[in-house]
Amino acid sequence: MKNWKAIATGTALLAGMAAVGTGWVAWRTFDTSRSHVADDTVALADYKSTDLQAVRRGEYVMRLADCAACHKANFAGGYTIDTPFGSLTTSNITPDRQTGIGTMTERGFFNAVRQGIGSHGLLYPAMPYTAYTRLSDKDVHDLWSYMATLAPVSKPIDENAGMKFPYNIRLAMAGWDLLFFDNKHFQADRAQSAEWNRGKYLTDGPAHCGTCHTPRNKLGGERSNAYLQGGLLGTWYAPDITPNPHTGIGAWSSDALTTYLKTGSDDVAVAAGPMAEAVEHSFQYYTTNDLQAIASYLKSLKPSPAVPGTPMKLDSHAQAAGALAYEVNCSACHGLQGEGIKGMVTAFAGNQRILADDPTNLLHALLMGTRAPHTEQRQTAAGMPSFAWKMNDREVADLLDYIRNSWGNAAPAVSPAQVASLRATLGARNKLSTP
Ligand code: HEC
Ligand code: HEC
Ligand code: HEC
Repeated sequence: MKNWKAIATGTALLAGMAAVGTGWVAWRTFDTSRSHVADDTVALADYKSTDLQAVRRGEYVMRLADCAACHKANFAGGYTIDTPFGSLTTSNITPDRQTGIGTMTERGFFNAVRQGIGSHGLLYPAMPYTAYTRLSDKDVHDLWSYMATLAPVSKPIDENAGMKFPYNIRLAMAGWDLLFFDNKHFQADRAQSAEWNRGKYLTDGPAHCGTCHTPRNKLGGERSNAYLQGGLLGTWYAPDITPNPHTGIGAWSSDALTTYLKTGSDDVAVAAGPMAEAVEHSFQYYTTNDLQAIASYLKSLKPSPAVPGTPMKLDSHAQAAGALAYEVNCSACHGLQGEGIKGMVTAFAGNQRILADDPTNLLHALLMGTRAPHTEQRQTAAGMPSFAWKMNDREVADLLDYIRNSWGNAAPAVSPAQVASLRATLGARNKLSTP
């Protein structure tokens, strides 16, 4: 009882202080005047664009921003996103009047996409408005013109039914927005080239690379002081993509980066998990100029301060055991010398990206299997089966230690506890025991 009272008093005090001190921040955060460029009279279901070029550009903006990844190919939503605060279901954004956003006006659309103010109140930041806020007026208008051409789909969605208390209260997002939402236009840097500015616009806006590659604090806000330095997404790790030579893209040429984004592989690494999906649904559709702009922008960033971890020393017994397990289980696809298959199967030799301190991606691939992206240029999306049922935690750790410390590789040890923990989180099978 006493505690509750103290908490209530404290909260009231804090709220009072916050109200005074952050009044102007609040004003900036919820200021919707940027949306006044958009019409507030015609609903999406009634809107007909006469400008075919705008519709076509809008489709490209949709690709750039990957709306279909979450709202599904027919835009009727229903995709579930698990967050630490419960699960959230994506909205039906087709022009259906009853169950979609058919009654939303263009101004309402601007507010939803760029400011997270939706038709039921404040949106959760799983909808990446924190990045889309950088989208230009023209891009959002074109996107709106495209949305109006979609077929209405009747499908009711209760977005936050799966969120835990108190996170199921939309108003709670007001506090989050005050803390972490930077309601600002993209600001071009005149000292930089047009290509660089386009690259920054794409990276921070529609492509929202930072929503995965920037680490987050406990409340789910992006840590701006660690911009693009590597973020953990639950069961995947989005690595450092600053030009750090050890942990980032420092050793990648711009061509390699462009090829990786376009096809999902630069002939050494092959994109897996959420990155494979982003390539498949979005990045493969980027024009070559846009991909080059991203590459040159990333290359211009300050490298992260990360240093390589201390490599382990394999004893000759572990070396022999690892070599045997590798030859039996992996070499058919990854090659006897870890050379992989160009554009299809990840190489282990000369592939710095499997040496990250954080082995989450390697463990995920091994425990659950994985599939390369299917793209226009790479039609054969090669797959890898799960090995969870064939190896216990110690055997998985030993095998990865072998791969990470052979063919010139050197990386810190993977512990059986790390394997056990991810196996539990993923609900992967245990090794089948033989009688
Ligand atoms: C990473 C996943 C993700 C992506 C990408 C995404 N959305 Fe969303 N969107 C969501 C989620 C989740 C919600 C529901 C949030 C809520 O109800 O609080 C949502 C809600 C919305 C809403 C609000 C609907 C309403 O009735 O208020 C609109 C409009 C919308 N999205 C449009 C878009 C557009 C346009 C794009 C591409 C530019 C896009 N979204 C990309 C996840 C996503
Ligand atoms: C939905 C989350 C997500 C988004 C959005 C995303 N990435 Fe990734 N990215 C990942 C994950 C996860 C990996 C690790 C993939 C793997 O292990 O094969 C990755 C890998 C990469 C790699 C390879 C890095 C390495 O060391 O292997 C590069 C380069 C990269 N991403 C660049 C980008 C860029 C540039 C953008 C924006 C244009 C972007 N990513 C957007 C999740 C994402
Ligand atoms: C049937 C072929 C096949 C076999 C056998 C196979 N792999 Fe793979 N592996 C692949 C393919 C294809 C990819 C790339 C797919 C992707 O990136 O999603 C891959 C990717 C990986 C990755 C990288 C995941 C990432 O983050 O990008 C690791 C680690 C891996 N394999 C480990 C192993 C190990 C260890 C073995 C043996 C126990 C093994 N693989 C056996 C086909 C195979």
